[in-house]
Amino acid sequence: MLPLSPFTQCLGILLLFTLPIFKWLRIRYTKQAGKNTVQATKDITTPQKRPESQPLSSQRDEVDPSRDNIDPTAAMQPYQPYDAFLVLDVEATCQPGTDFDYANEIIEWPVCLLRWKHKDKNGNASRLEIVDEFRSFVKPVWRPQLSSFCTALTGITQDNVDSAPLFHTLLHTSFHDFLARNGLIDAVTGARLVPFCWCTDGPWDVRDFVVKQCFISKIRLPPWLSGDVMDVRRVVTRWLEKNDPQRRATGSVAFTSPRRKSLPITRQLHLLGLGAFEGRQHCGIDDTRNVARIVIELARQGMPLRANTPVNPRRRWQWMGKNGKVLEEFVRPATPTL
Ligand SMILES: *[C@@H]1O[C@H](CO)[C@@H](O)[C@H](O)[C@H]1NC(C)=O
Repeated sequence: MLPLSPFTQCLGILLLFTLPIFKWLRIRYTKQAGKNTVQATKDITTPQKRPESQPLSSQRDEVDPSRDNIDPTAAMQPYQPYDAFLVLDVEATCQPGTDFDYANEIIEWPVCLLRWKHKDKNGNASRLEIVDEFRSFVKPVWRPQLSSFCTALTGITQDNVDSAPLFHTLLHTSFHDFLARNGLIDAVTGARLVPFCWCTDGPWDVRDFVVKQCFISKIRLPPWLSGDVMDVRRVVTRWLEKNDPQRRATGSVAFTSPRRKSLPITRQLHLLGLGAFEGRQHCGIDDTRNVARIVIELARQGMPLRANTPVNPRRRWQWMGKNGKVLEEFVRPATPTL
């Protein structure tokens, strides 16, 4: 016997007995997780390792018949963990002079669904296409009257929102149906069926606007909306770093966030060589379609598309009181001008 103190011996014996219990609990938990649909979500957070690379010759046999159409300037196809992308660019209520701390309410919910045209058996892909689109206006509850500033900015009229569904209704009816119809979530349980990622211009749409709206609407974030968000602007910045020879030569690393803020959609389109913005800026569906063009181009250029923006559903702003109440005294400007 090793010369152990009585205390250490006791500890050892204790561990000897408790470890199997922990192990048993773990197995039980994992089994249950499998039974529920947590499995699907698990695949997203830890994308499964790709099988070993195939020799090129056998890969060549795999490619689809439309291979001749492949753009020869397209870069190599990286491994892409997600199967689908939901591009979202919400419009929200605003007042002149309000910033990202305001109690914004979502008034337009526009989504473009992108899928790979072809993904090889290793999960490598580079060609995305828009396969479906969703758009609805949303009726605000805290400040049902839109400011003229907001209407001028977004083009959304009072009539648009007056006849629109409330946010929680939208999420649980027509938008839920959209996701289910496209095979992204289970129609009954709402569990994810395939790994998909939200794509937004900047980190704000899901991380801030959706979290604020869920508070005001007194609902929980649906599980299919509480993670896997890709800030597209940040990926464009990464792409710039990779493709700007001067930047590469000087070896400078990531841009700081102020620079990122000054990279509006129009500028991103220009930098990627995609030409002009199509449609009306700050119209949610037009913004969304243009962000979708950017995502498609980033994929074509061989950028890996991954989640890069954590969402905290419990994040709180100063104006948040109890049970979804907006504390007027904390909302700036104090006296809204309609
Ligand atoms: C597939 O992706 C892996 C990892 O990103 C990469 O190393 C490989 O070269 C890719 N294959 C092709 C054919 O582009």
